[in-house]
Amino acid sequence: MFQFVQGEVLKRRQLLNCQQPKSSPAQCLTDAYNLAKVQAESAGDFETYSDFQIVRVCMELFFGGTATTARSLEWLLLYMAAYPDEQSKVQQELDQLIHRNQDTNKSAEEICLDDRDSLHYTQAVIDECYRRVSLSSNGTFHRATRDAELRGYLIPKDAALMPLAYAVHHSERHWSHPQGFHPGHFLDNDGRYQPSRYLIPFMIGRRACLGEGLARQEIFLIFANLMRRYRVELGSDCCYGDREKLLEGRLSLIRVPEKHTLRFSRRF
Ligand code: HEM
Repeated sequence: MFQFVQGEVLKRRQLLNCQQPKSSPAQCLTDAYNLAKVQAESAGDFETYSDFQIVRVCMELFFGGTATTARSLEWLLLYMAAYPDEQSKVQQELDQLIHRNQDTNKSAEEICLDDRDSLHYTQAVIDECYRRVSLSSNGTFHRATRDAELRGYLIPKDAALMPLAYAVHHSERHWSHPQGFHPGHFLDNDGRYQPSRYLIPFMIGRRACLGEGLARQEIFLIFANLMRRYRVELGSDCCYGDREKLLEGRLSLIRVPEKHTLRFSRRF
């Protein structure tokens, strides 16, 4: 992996070197890093930027962004198979959007990001799945940089902190159906999408997930376009016996579903 990413970083540098003028805007993170490195070195700073660092940063983006996004999609499809009525409502909303787009001569082949604001139910289903599953249930550990007090408890400097997203996502204080699958948590009385500050799958604060924007876009696009074209059902070999167990999954670094299969059939 290291060698592969290193090779790609070198390719970008060679492309950048051929580029005229040299100040052309960066087309990716690696370009931006390489340009900053050249600038720093021409000012005599050979310390701040290193090839090793940009290769590691790229690798971390891939590590951080691959399993999380793929598992989120896997969960969404599993929940749609387990809740066929919810799936139908999503598909109805997508079909209506496509018909409206056809009427206005807009390209109707694919759902795109511009459509997101019109797809209230679809967005609510995605958020409800983030909530119910709580992919990163335990978040990641952090360390207190100084003594602090929270609701009368002392949190000493250097204490390890483990943010329990699962508890926030399943608290009766914030959700009317904490243990159910209820997209209504994210809809107002007029059926319009309404985000909640208590949904924190990417955590909060300065060290929250760097890839949230990208992940949300990817997941919306892939999910909406799959739902538009395919009906998804639980495979016949699935362990129907314990549906709740299947939907609860098991916790490793991120929450993963129990072994299952899904069947896709084209809708048109
Ligand atoms: C559904 C998909 C994703 C979920 C649920 C998710 C969740 C998280 C969580 C819970 C954290 C820990 C935040 C904290 O320490 O408080 C995190 C950190 C991080 N994520 Fe994601 N992530 C997702 C996708 C991505 C993607 C697509 C990328 C990169 C393109 C990414 C890159 C990162 C990075 C670099 C960090 C470390 C940030 C830091 O320590 O400052 N993630 N993510």
